[in-house]
Amino acid sequence: MNSQDPSHLYRAHLSAIKARVDRALEKGGFDHLLVASGVEKFEFLDDRPYPFKTNAHFKAWLPLTRHPSCWIAYTPGRKPVLAYYQPDDYWHVPPTAPEGVWVDEFDIRVITDPADAAAHLPTGGKAAILGEADAALPGFEPNNPKAVIDYLHYHRTWKTPYELERMRAAQRRAVPGHLAARAAFQAGASEAGIHAAYLAATGHTDLDAPYNSIVGLNEHGATLHYQYKDTQAPGRHRSLLIDAGAEVDGYASDITRTWGDGDADFAALLNAVENEQLALCDMVRPGKDYRDIHLECHLRLGGVLRNLGIVDMDPGQMLSSGLTSTFFPHGLGHPIGLQVHDVAGFTDEDGQVIPRPDGHPYLRMTRTLEPGMVVTIEPGLYFIPTLLKKLRARPEGKSVNWNRVEQLMPWGGVRIEDEVHCTDGAPENLTRDAFAEAPTP
Ligand code: GLY
Ligand code: MN
Ligand code: MN
Repeated sequence: MNSQDPSHLYRAHLSAIKARVDRALEKGGFDHLLVASGVEKFEFLDDRPYPFKTNAHFKAWLPLTRHPSCWIAYTPGRKPVLAYYQPDDYWHVPPTAPEGVWVDEFDIRVITDPADAAAHLPTGGKAAILGEADAALPGFEPNNPKAVIDYLHYHRTWKTPYELERMRAAQRRAVPGHLAARAAFQAGASEAGIHAAYLAATGHTDLDAPYNSIVGLNEHGATLHYQYKDTQAPGRHRSLLIDAGAEVDGYASDITRTWGDGDADFAALLNAVENEQLALCDMVRPGKDYRDIHLECHLRLGGVLRNLGIVDMDPGQMLSSGLTSTFFPHGLGHPIGLQVHDVAGFTDEDGQVIPRPDGHPYLRMTRTLEPGMVVTIEPGLYFIPTLLKKLRARPEGKSVNWNRVEQLMPWGGVRIEDEVHCTDGAPENLTRDAFAEAPTP
């Protein structure tokens, strides 16, 4: 466990997981749940491993994220068994002896060979086996039963108090990185240099960050998932769009900030998007359909485009004609937790798809919000050459002030992304709270 130890909340969390699994097994007609943590994967024709990513179903039970070849075996009403892989290895650092508040809750069997886990898994009855195909042991091939998976995924959207604490901690870990990135941008660093400053301030490396950070200077901010980090600084630093998170005990944060060089027009765009982002965060309330917040976001961003003289059209018409999607071509956000893009954003308890609004194929969340859910709210406005070219060829293109567009293109775009916890009352903005608490650098 990390700082601000939530040990006192862990047992209740584990009880909630067990109760959820009990219902899932009953629903699917299974006697046991087996969960593989996963296996290390290696580069083709070499023995170099890719970064290990734990099965989220495994880390839902306990805070182990660097532990391949482990298994949990759970039979309702019994203490769960943990086959804990601790090889005798002098090439790598093996996992330490089990320690932490979770240890007493498991019947731990230390194994030194991955194959030995099988001896600790139940043989009678029907088992739901969750994991990737590569994790199979003889007689224990993952079957990932749909009924079980759908149920667990759907209910994972409601966070336990323990999970909320871990997610708050993941925000606190990321925020110093964002402040360091801003300082590096202002000091004229390259994208790679800004990224290094981010990692140093969060205590992460590229291998254990929850996703590949997006660090885009200037026009690169217009590539939604810009995947490179230039090692050369550009001649001029107009803008930085950094989308980067942190992880604590397997729980992720996913934060985007955009910083500008003080140019008045870009500052006006930045302020306008931020104002709308805050208003949208305030809509994360019980009973609200996330799809409606997404559509409201389009209308509000349409208002920004009009007020700043970029598009001369009514925002409702901008939405219905698809024009706002040129400038905001992704969804408003997604559930987050054990995975950055957490599961079941658009499915119900039985895995049935809750449809996206027509014309919005990238929306990752279509559910109605309830207390305990955590979602991202990440509106953006971008100047994306390939989409603008298509818009120019359409009748709606006549309503665009192309001089304004060309003037702003060198700044790339704006995205502002926070995590928001839906409560019974006012929404809890996990990200803004962490920024407010952060010591001034
Ligand atoms: N970091 C990817 C996203 O914001 O969804
Ligand atoms: Mn996100
Ligand atoms: Mn993000």
